[in-house]
Amino acid sequence: MVAPHPSWTPRSSVDPPAAPLGSAPPRHVAIVMDGNGRWATSRGLPRAAGHTAGERALLDVVAGAAEIGIRYLTVFAFSTENWNRPPAERRFLMTLFRRGLRTRRDALHAHGVRIRWLGQHSKLPPQLVTELEATERLTAGNTGLTLALCLNYGSRSELVDAARRIAEDATAGSLDAAALDSQTVARYLYAPDLPDVDLFIRSAGEQRVSNFLLWQCAYAEFVFVDALWPDFNRRHLRQAVAAYASRNRTFGTVNDPQPLPRAARG
Ligand code: IPE
Ligand code: IPE
Ligand code: MG
Repeated sequence: MVAPHPSWTPRSSVDPPAAPLGSAPPRHVAIVMDGNGRWATSRGLPRAAGHTAGERALLDVVAGAAEIGIRYLTVFAFSTENWNRPPAERRFLMTLFRRGLRTRRDALHAHGVRIRWLGQHSKLPPQLVTELEATERLTAGNTGLTLALCLNYGSRSELVDAARRIAEDATAGSLDAAALDSQTVARYLYAPDLPDVDLFIRSAGEQRVSNFLLWQCAYAEFVFVDALWPDFNRRHLRQAVAAYASRNRTFGTVNDPQPLPRAARG
């Protein structure tokens, strides 16, 4: 048993015991961590303060996900569209990510968390890419929760990258274009070993996808939460998982097939 690292312990030791969830947790949860800027602005703080607070929220949610038994947690940290933000905010975020990886990875590693990075190298500061790759290497053998960081990630770019590599392999003769199916396409995604998303959560009351995991969310359940991301914690995660557990996932079929009436049998 590893002693809890200070950054891993719950925010409040007076939290009531969590209610049982009643059914199997979602295997893969994806979160759009939105609302950092509004959180800061509403307190008269610079937007950067919201991003710093958002990083602490993520740690609590990671610990909560492990408690619940979620196997894969994928979080949207920086989108390909976020390059359109003011340069100072972009720079702040890049530094926050680099320092965050350095200061948090040992604790996460000690808890068996495997960290993955999904995104493009282009435009990222090389020092950040170095930290991302070092973190992936350090935690590669871990068998606990997989935490996938989508950083400089855009789902359309991921699909375009996949299409390009599929076309290259077909031209080179190592792939039969006529035999292409969805499983083959999935093998060309950034992290082909991640399963489809079961539960998609977005904070801050926004109800849009913003170019996040379009392929992987084909059959995800969506839960939108009003809390701004820095206020989001493991209890919000638990509530979202409880909402998920109450959904009826039919995947295009029916749960309770009725015999067809005689007239419809043909
Ligand atoms: C999400 O919070 C963090 C990133 C996109 C990096 P926002 O920064 O989008 O916060 P709001 O939406 O402006 O409140
Ligand atoms: C999505 O949030 C990206 C991240 C959380 C990293 P945004 O705040 O950037 O997305 P929009 O602008 O609401 O679509
Ligand atoms: Mg936002």
